[in-house]
Amino acid sequence: MILSGKARLAGVVGWPVSHSKSPQLHGYWLEQLGIDGAYLPLAVEPESFDLALTGLMAAGFQGVNVTVPHKEAALQFCDEVDPLARRIGAVNTIVFREGKAIGSNSDAFGFIENLRQNAPGLNFSLAKAVVLGAGGAARGVIAALQDAGLRDIVLLNRTRSRAEALAEDLCKDQTGTIRVLDWEERNSALESADLLVNTTSLGMAGQPALELDLSALPQSAVVTDIVYAPLITPLLALAQKQGNPVVDGLGMLLHQARPGFEAWFGAKPVVNEELRKFVLAI
Ligand code: ATR
Repeated sequence: MILSGKARLAGVVGWPVSHSKSPQLHGYWLEQLGIDGAYLPLAVEPESFDLALTGLMAAGFQGVNVTVPHKEAALQFCDEVDPLARRIGAVNTIVFREGKAIGSNSDAFGFIENLRQNAPGLNFSLAKAVVLGAGGAARGVIAALQDAGLRDIVLLNRTRSRAEALAEDLCKDQTGTIRVLDWEERNSALESADLLVNTTSLGMAGQPALELDLSALPQSAVVTDIVYAPLITPLLALAQKQGNPVVDGLGMLLHQARPGFEAWFGAKPVVNEELRKFVLAI
């Protein structure tokens, strides 16, 4: 590790932050690229968020990633926020520049890059997507799909009102529609879909599995889950058994880290099989 007096500094601000894989992920790239810099875990309580960010800026940090529960506070804190982060309603990447905090959101980028890398045959502009879940993660996923050219998105959430609010928010100034259906209709909604995305926490280690019958889903449809622990969720295992192409959620985590790294450390990091193995071994 190179760490001189001129080292560039960045980190991830969260509460708690001890579960975050980002310090090791960025540390891997710093090492690999021989960069004089460090990326630290920064445990900051919600009531201290603004104070901590102001301090990090004053201390000469290049910027930070922001994770749960600070992504909305980060949007409020930033002096400038890019339009995509504003549409999603959350900031996860901040660059400090000339005394200003510039906010963006790389979750949408991470989601789409993961699909582009691992499901290269998917034609976004012709595809119909079914998205399950309407929480914070779903907002990034849906904004990403809209920007990739998807015009037909079906959204289902246990709490329908949350899906309706999301659809209304994200359809403003956009072409294409988001059709909201009842959670109970999720099996039949899969008919003629080209892409199925789980953004709920169901299937995550310690959570119940997502109950879904995939028999209406065309065998060519890509199935992806933003949950990456376990890597192969019960949904992905079922889809694999049915012969569908699947994309696990780890790639989203890896790709969403790229824009911040490049902005803070001035080099382009690469996501490859070696990095996946490294992060899985953590
Ligand atoms: P995140 O920011 O990670 O998306 P979140 O905002 O808490 O987290 O959203 C979790 C998502 O998982 C929501 O869509 C939630 O559905 P509700 O809006 O109805 O709460 C969904 N979810 C969690 N537990 C669920 C369950 N047992 N059955 C169905 N959906 C569930």
